[in-house]
Order: sequence, then structure tokens, then C-alpha cells
Amino acid sequence: MLQIFPDQSAIAEHVSNILIDKIQSKPDVVLGLATGGTMEPIYERFVIKVRRQGVDVSKLTSFNLDEYVGLAPDHPKSYAAYMRKHLFGQLGFDESRLHLPNGLAPDLEQHSKDYALRLRQTGGVELQLLGVGSNGHIGFNEPGTPFDSQCHVVRLSEDTRRDNSRFFEGNAIVPAHAVTLGMADIMQAREILLVATGEAKARIVAHWYHNEVTEAVPFTILKRHRRARILLDEAAASLLPDQARKTLAAMPA
Ligand code: F6R
Repeated sequence: MLQIFPDQSAIAEHVSNILIDKIQSKPDVVLGLATGGTMEPIYERFVIKVRRQGVDVSKLTSFNLDEYVGLAPDHPKSYAAYMRKHLFGQLGFDESRLHLPNGLAPDLEQHSKDYALRLRQTGGVELQLLGVGSNGHIGFNEPGTPFDSQCHVVRLSEDTRRDNSRFFEGNAIVPAHAVTLGMADIMQAREILLVATGEAKARIVAHWYHNEVTEAVPFTILKRHRRARILLDEAAASLLPDQARKTLAAMPA
């Protein structure tokens, strides 16, 4: 379930190959997508490989995990803009099949329900990509979020807002709220790949390794998923026990 790769580019290569295999064997696959720094090298690699191999991405459907409340899709710091920049604007997707929560929806509660319903109506996610926050959040499900939660509006923790301030240069303020798929929605995915790279994730990865499943650390729920894999680079794995690191690094990808 845990695998260690030498660096983030090895992970990007591995995840891109998995995505391309899925799309080639099922062109209308439903993918669950994440944003954030962790995903950037993955999307970059994926775009290069799709172009090189001439893979048709026009029939796939995607659902993003989350979006900031109050940012319009054309706001440069919105996750809609992130996705256009790193992925959607790079390849021949069918825009009508690409879904993100709308952080400007007039009734956010209703919008959250509709978003989760739409996801279920497509048959659910085949393969979900996840990153993890340094406080253990997945999607924007902050510590303490009930495991039975569905898509909802969340108040972002100070930890998360501080971590994400690196994407908001100058005096721009990280929004205080977001819409996120819930823990239950995420666990419905048939397969999950969670990627953690860099030293900043080492503490939460070690926490995951040593502790039981608890709502206090949302990431731990993946121990209950039958087809979840956690892909680490050496830096994110650096606080795992030596023996575990050796065994996991020796495992074939
Ligand atoms: C993003 C998301 C978040 C990020 C997490 C890690 O759509 O849902 O859970 O995956 O905050 O972010 P980075 O990759 O920037 O460290």
C-alpha cells in the first residue's frame, strides 16, 4: 500500500503511465483530480506523454475535489484556473465532461449536494488522485471531518491557509472557505493514488504509518480502502523507520 520512489519525477512517470493505461483501456473513464504543488509535475509529465503517444482524452470525464469559495473560475488563484493551466488547456478534452465545484454558486449547500449527485450519476470515480495536507487533510476535509461526510462547504484551518499562502503572492488573502468532496465521496472511488512528496510531508506520513484510523487525521481513512496506494518520494518517507524504508523502496512499482 505504501511505495517509495527516488524522487517526484519517478512518481510523475509512474502515475502518468497508470492514467494513460486507464484511458486507453476505457476511454470514457471517470477520473477524480486534485490540484496543488504535488500534482504539478504529474500533470506536466502526463501532458508530454499524452502528446507524444497521441492518446485521445476527449471521452474521459473528470471531477475535481475542491474549489475555493468566493473565487470565480477565471480568478488566477482558483482551482479552475489551475486546472486550465496545468491540464485542461493543454490537451483536447471535452470541456462539458470536466467538473469542478463552483465557488461562486449562490446557494453553496445546494450546489454541494448537486455536485455529489452528479458524480454519483456518472457512476462514480474509477481512479482518484489525492495529495495530502501537512495536517493530514485530503480534499479540503480538515482534521475532525466526519468520515460519513459528503460534498460540503468547509472552513479552512489556519494550517491549511498558511501552507497555501505560497500560491497567493503579495497581499492576496487565502480564502477562508472552500467546497470539497466529502470523506465518504472520496472513499467511493474504486481506486485511489495518494501522492506525498517533499520534506514538508514527512511528519504526516510518519503519523499515518504509526497510528490507527482516526477522524483527527483524515488521511488515515485510506487504511480502510481496499485499493488505495500511497506513493512517496524519499523526502516524504524520511521519517519512516529505517527498516520500513528499505523494504518499501525495494518493492517493484
Ligand atoms: C487539492 C487538494 C488538497 C491538496 C493538499 C496538498 O485539490 O485537495 O488536499 O492535495 O493540500 O497540497 P500540495 O500538493 O500543494 O502540498
